[in-house]
Amino acid sequence: MEKTARLIIDGKTYELQVVEGSEGERAIDISSLRKETGLITLDPGYANTGCCKSSITFMDGEKGILRYRGIPVEQLAEKATFKETAYLLIHGKLPNTKELKRYSMLLNDHSLVHEDMKAFYTKFPRASHPMGILSAMVNALRSFYPELNNQTEEEEIMITMTRLMAKIRTMAAMSYKISRGHKVIYPRPDLSYCENFLNMMFDTPVMPYKINSLEVNALRVFWILHADHEQNCSTSSVRMVGSARVNLYAAISAGIAALWGPLHGGANQAVIEMLTMIHDSGGGYKKAIEKAKDKNDPFRLMGFGHRVYKTYDPRAKIMKKMCDGLLESLHISDPLLDIAKELENQARKDPYFIDHNLYPNVDFYAGIVLRAIGIPTNMFTVMFAIGRLPGWIAQWKESIYDPNWKISRPRQIYTGPVKRDYVAITERG
Ligand code: CMC
Repeated sequence: MEKTARLIIDGKTYELQVVEGSEGERAIDISSLRKETGLITLDPGYANTGCCKSSITFMDGEKGILRYRGIPVEQLAEKATFKETAYLLIHGKLPNTKELKRYSMLLNDHSLVHEDMKAFYTKFPRASHPMGILSAMVNALRSFYPELNNQTEEEEIMITMTRLMAKIRTMAAMSYKISRGHKVIYPRPDLSYCENFLNMMFDTPVMPYKINSLEVNALRVFWILHADHEQNCSTSSVRMVGSARVNLYAAISAGIAALWGPLHGGANQAVIEMLTMIHDSGGGYKKAIEKAKDKNDPFRLMGFGHRVYKTYDPRAKIMKKMCDGLLESLHISDPLLDIAKELENQARKDPYFIDHNLYPNVDFYAGIVLRAIGIPTNMFTVMFAIGRLPGWIAQWKESIYDPNWKISRPRQIYTGPVKRDYVAITERG
């Protein structure tokens, strides 16, 4: 294999190093391109740009492979807990019994949220989207938990990472309870990470929540499937904002804001809204397919397509299977599942979707799983955010310890007016 690539510009040849990853992925290192040639590369949406070397997550979009720290996501979804998966992503290895015990203890110790934060939640207008609230409140954590003076930088980072993992589920459930005008339920030390969240969401003083192992398992799998996805929009946002050496809370808050978008994490809510629209209009999924294909219509089939996967998203395969099993076990008949399956069948037979390699992504069946657990639609993307948190933290940590770290600062090709003079207002046409 060639170790260099040759680039000819204005008759002059430049040699650029070819970098190879552990799974054989190759890239041309252009870090000295501008210095040597005066040129930059142009790559809208960074579709061909690697922004870092990373040892966290491997994806192969052609083969439909996803591995965290080398372990296939299918194995983790079958055997691991979400807590173990988070530890694996953040610390690079599965925890042993002692490490897991200590991690569980720390997550429990940090799971409460400063009581004064409750006042903030109550002041958001009732119609506020929970993602806007979560992004704001995670950013606000820095004010409630300022830098500790008597800790080393490493200890400070460890505490902040654990604090975030511990508090995010409390904060999300708190936001839901307060939005409903209900009493906030506190975390319990005897419950697992997933059980605790469901209990904080659904327990009430008049109707105690009964832990349902099917729901707990569905949430575990849902969160594991969302735990990391290498350099996607929200993760890149965390890395980019973090590259200015801002605190972790602010970087994660930026990631949450990016995830909110309907082309990214917001798609799980958008899928359910689309399926509901199809259902309410009499089940006409064909119209949705025709609209998605129409170049003059901005409508897209939500939960379909992916920047990297050009085959079935491996997460969607697991999610679809789990969705079927969960609904059957809970004896739920959701008309949206029938519509989703029919929509998938029709789309996958359609030449447009075949030619464009458009398959269901993780969000397509995710909303139906969340509905079955009882999560309200406007909280779906918050569920994605809780699941993605370990990935964001791991990527942020990797970037701040990267010896080649640089502040993120892309360039541009300017296409505006060339130099012209200021014109006094009385002389403007
Ligand atoms: N419905 C109809 N056409 C589509 C769709 C879709 N869902 N997705 C892509 N296309 C078409 C697009 O119109 C374009 O066609 P053409 O080349 O003829 O102009 C072509 O496929 C390539 O699209 P693109 O926008 O250049 O692809 P991208 O890699 O920039 O976008 C995407 C990826 C996920 C934003 C896009 O597929 C999309 O908008 N999907 C719907 C939203 C969605 O489900 N998002 C969740 C993504 S997975 C969870 C996550 O990681 O956030």
